[in-house]
Amino acid sequence: MVDKLTPIVTAHWGEEGSWRLENYVSHGGYGAARKALTTMSSPDVISLVKDAGLRGRGGAGFPTGMKWSFIPQDNPNPKYLVVNCDESEPGTCKDMPMLMATPHTLIEGIIIACYAVNAHHAFVYVRGEVLHVIRRLRKAVAEAYEAGYLGADLFGTGYGLDVIVHAGAGAYICGEETALLDSLEGRRGQPRLRPPFPAVEGLYACPTVVNNAESIASVPAIVEHGAAWYQQMGTERSKGAMLYSVSGHVRRPGQFEAPLGITMRELIEMAGGIREGHELKFFTPGGSSTPIFTPEHLDVPLDYESVSAAGSILGTKALQCFDDTVSAVRTALRWTEFYKHESCGKCTPCREGSWWLVQTLRNIEAGKGSPGDVDKMLDVCDNVSMKSFCTLAEGFVACITSAVRHFRSEFEAGCNGTPAWELFPYEASAL
Ligand code: NAI
Repeated sequence: MVDKLTPIVTAHWGEEGSWRLENYVSHGGYGAARKALTTMSSPDVISLVKDAGLRGRGGAGFPTGMKWSFIPQDNPNPKYLVVNCDESEPGTCKDMPMLMATPHTLIEGIIIACYAVNAHHAFVYVRGEVLHVIRRLRKAVAEAYEAGYLGADLFGTGYGLDVIVHAGAGAYICGEETALLDSLEGRRGQPRLRPPFPAVEGLYACPTVVNNAESIASVPAIVEHGAAWYQQMGTERSKGAMLYSVSGHVRRPGQFEAPLGITMRELIEMAGGIREGHELKFFTPGGSSTPIFTPEHLDVPLDYESVSAAGSILGTKALQCFDDTVSAVRTALRWTEFYKHESCGKCTPCREGSWWLVQTLRNIEAGKGSPGDVDKMLDVCDNVSMKSFCTLAEGFVACITSAVRHFRSEFEAGCNGTPAWELFPYEASAL
């Protein structure tokens, strides 16, 4: 039985009242923030995070310390930290459980990150639908203010910090960092052209670090234990441990914190295996916007480099498992419907392409596709890919093209009069 669980961020998740300040402090909580602010300079903190090799946990894997170092300190404008807790990628369920279980880990990470980049205001952008999470985080922020961990003169250093928890309104596109900034400024959330990157011109046109919640929550442990400790975990270029969300047809879905480089085979075993009587058909390594993998990829190490070399993206580490009862056509359709609904409409390839692809996939699912539809679909994907304003379109292109690559005969069947439900009868658990 594999047990590579590495509880760092998740160390106290199961404890009674784990979200309360007193519980967090009883485990040494806010000690790392105290250490950073009282014994380290801001550049020292940035160097430490760089040396540790922490990479962004929101999907792109951009080096966190390097991102912090891009903040131009000679710019006279205020600097901001924006924490991206929009978490909307289908299958991704790590930031929300983390905020419910131990919100103070995030707040402590925010203090250290803000100190590192010389910011005195942090905004936490949480997706609008998760009211329970927003309430819990706001309560934790209030506790931190009351205890003097936020506000003026932290740890007697003269450094002050305010944290604002902002509720989004539930649009997937607002997880894209520049759309998030527009939304935070009170505008309709639509992506901005990059460059300039937020590090140079972000919130209110000021230098802004936008980091995923898990990235920031990983920082206190690095400050506490050091870069060498963090470097011991993971692979040569993908360091540390991270939260993998395992969902779908496994016996015990959930969040598993493990070193980078763990394999899907090991994670499935930790999740209790595929449900009885069935076999794995395909899975997503990084959420629905990453090309699907099949059982031949079970031993690919889940680190940024290996997953890319095998033809997909580690993304948000959202491992959705689909067993042999599932139609690849129906799955591609469900995902594409999601992206069509969430397309912000700003650019034509994404807006029109997603609409057209949904119509074609619906026909194929119903066995009413025309000969040549599969190739036409791939051609539309090719015309959308890398030609739209942001990466949202890459999401539906990835799920469709990879599903066709692995299960083309199912799509062809839908163009030859066979509905998907004849090949794969609907069952509640497969929807
Ligand atoms: P990206 O690679 O363009 O950028 C990553 C980060 O690095 C950004 O913060 C960007 O500002 C920064 N950056 C990159 N180059 C820079 C430069 N030259 N100077 C300064 N900063 C620079 O990736 P993007 O578009 O921000 O994110 C795409 C990823 O998001 C995908 O890999 C996908 O897996 C993931 N994603 C996550 C979701 C979630 O729910 N967490 C939802 C959908 C997608």
